[in-house]
Amino acid sequence: MCGIVGYIGELDAKEVLLKGLEKLEYRGYDSAGIAVRNEDGITVFKEKGRIADLRAAIDTSVEASVGIGHTRWATHGVPNRKNAHPHQSATGRFTLVHNGVIENYHLLQKAYLKGIQLASDTDTEIIVQLVDLFVSEGLSTEDAFRKTLGLLHGSYALALLDREDADVIYVAKNKSPLLVGVADTFNVIASDAMAMLQVTNQFVELHDKEVVLVRKDGVTITNLEGTVMERAPFTAELDASDIEKGTYPHYMLKEMDEQPTVIRKIMQAYTGEDDALTVDPEILAALNEADRLYIIAAGTSYHAGLVGKEYFEKIAKIPVEVHISSEFGYNMPLLSEKPLFIFISQSGETADSRQVLVKIKEQGYKSLTVTNVPGSTLSREADYTLLLHAGPEIAVASTKAYVAQIAVLAVAAYVTAKEKGIDVDFDLKQELAIVANNIQTVIDRKDDLEKIAEDYLKIARNAFFIGRNLDFCVSLEGALKLKEISYIQAEGFAGGELKHGTIALIEDGTPVFALVSQKAVALNIRGNVKEVTARGANACIISMEGMAEDDDAFILPKTHALLTPLVSVVPLQLISYYAALHRRCDVDKPRNLAKSVTVE
Ligand code: AGP
Repeated sequence: MCGIVGYIGELDAKEVLLKGLEKLEYRGYDSAGIAVRNEDGITVFKEKGRIADLRAAIDTSVEASVGIGHTRWATHGVPNRKNAHPHQSATGRFTLVHNGVIENYHLLQKAYLKGIQLASDTDTEIIVQLVDLFVSEGLSTEDAFRKTLGLLHGSYALALLDREDADVIYVAKNKSPLLVGVADTFNVIASDAMAMLQVTNQFVELHDKEVVLVRKDGVTITNLEGTVMERAPFTAELDASDIEKGTYPHYMLKEMDEQPTVIRKIMQAYTGEDDALTVDPEILAALNEADRLYIIAAGTSYHAGLVGKEYFEKIAKIPVEVHISSEFGYNMPLLSEKPLFIFISQSGETADSRQVLVKIKEQGYKSLTVTNVPGSTLSREADYTLLLHAGPEIAVASTKAYVAQIAVLAVAAYVTAKEKGIDVDFDLKQELAIVANNIQTVIDRKDDLEKIAEDYLKIARNAFFIGRNLDFCVSLEGALKLKEISYIQAEGFAGGELKHGTIALIEDGTPVFALVSQKAVALNIRGNVKEVTARGANACIISMEGMAEDDDAFILPKTHALLTPLVSVVPLQLISYYAALHRRCDVDKPRNLAKSVTVE
């Protein structure tokens, strides 16, 4: 988590850095800071809170055309001004911003920095103190930076300023994302291209453990041995308007509204010249050769993986296991003979998933990443990538990426089945077109969903989401959406499972959202609803046309049985959104969270 930026050129660095940080705020938002360098030396501004608080605290009279900045999601040390980045060495010569976690910072402190009074509780400060120490022992700044990097265990994206040299920003990364943006009269750095689209769309990819010197008129990349690496820039295929809220009050609302378009874009992206759905032949071959798929993911992406398992098993007849990434890497199950690993990750940067990818690569297994971000770490490091084509997702609560993940997994399973000669009794393209329209129908009924949020959740302390089969998968996602943005304690359950213990929590008025979109188990889930209403629950039934009954609270348009998650999740997203609004929560930036979780 955390976002970093840097600028070296001719413009007012403060403004470029602040604008960049505003675009990176999704990565962390508990404190922020910038450091700028001019002929008077280095000036640091930092504040607890949002970028807006930092902006308010900045002395606008300080002019500089070199600087670095940071927006923080605290890992080491509470979120306060003292622990906010940038951090400075004791002599004040060096100033540093860091995204990541230095695992051996305590050991390094004991080994090298005993006599130095630290100013913060962060792991980051150790890095900047080490650089200063090695320079005081006679090394050049570049050599000291290089020597320090060699001692670090963990993840980092770093930018360092030297008070004695206004012409360079020292930059490096390991396991955390970082790009250099290039132009004729300036150069920039950023955790995400989005932050610097304001000034350039040309970016250079950095590799782990390279040492990069960013100057106004050039960028020098060297590997650990000091060999210069030549690398051409790429054009970031992002439209600045993709990352603006426009007239929407929240990114989450905008992103939910984009869901029909996302489905249509996926259909377009995965349609071949013969007008049929298609997937890269190499990926198809890998899917075909596998005797078992292992889906690895976290949070919402894990929930999408649960739906994906149904697709690969039911449509393509390939056995699938779905695992939470933070568990899998440290407790691997017995693997099949020819496994294929599928990493699902909106950001492509999730550290929990990446640690699994690193381990399975060491064991020689093939991997496929399903991600929204081309060029992201998981995409670069896996053998194959399937893109989501959802456009940037900025709200911390994932919505359009979830439906995109499910749709792309459906396409992959469907095309694999066709390739295998399996007789599939439906036309996925046709059904996805219906899904896009059905999502729009749900979105057009926002008022009804706002009313449901008010009726069921206005004074709720907790809530349950139940469903069976695919509806169970969606109930897990519904509960996650509600809790992460409204802070109402919420749990998703298989309909039949509540009575095995959790039903003890049902009291008069406890909201229970029940999904009824799976014909084979429609009666069973209605039976489960009766069990909870008999104990006082306030049940909100969301059913599908053809299975609806008179008192159901919301009826979904008829959708193919396997694709219902794409539609049934939408009312749950919107109910969560309105519940959070009623509680005056910060919908796009819920407390304690960040969009991209780059620490384990
Ligand atoms: C969901 O709303 C969350 N933002 C979170 O659970 C997220 O899905 C998880 O952190 C995984 O992120 P990824 O898809 O970028 O890997």
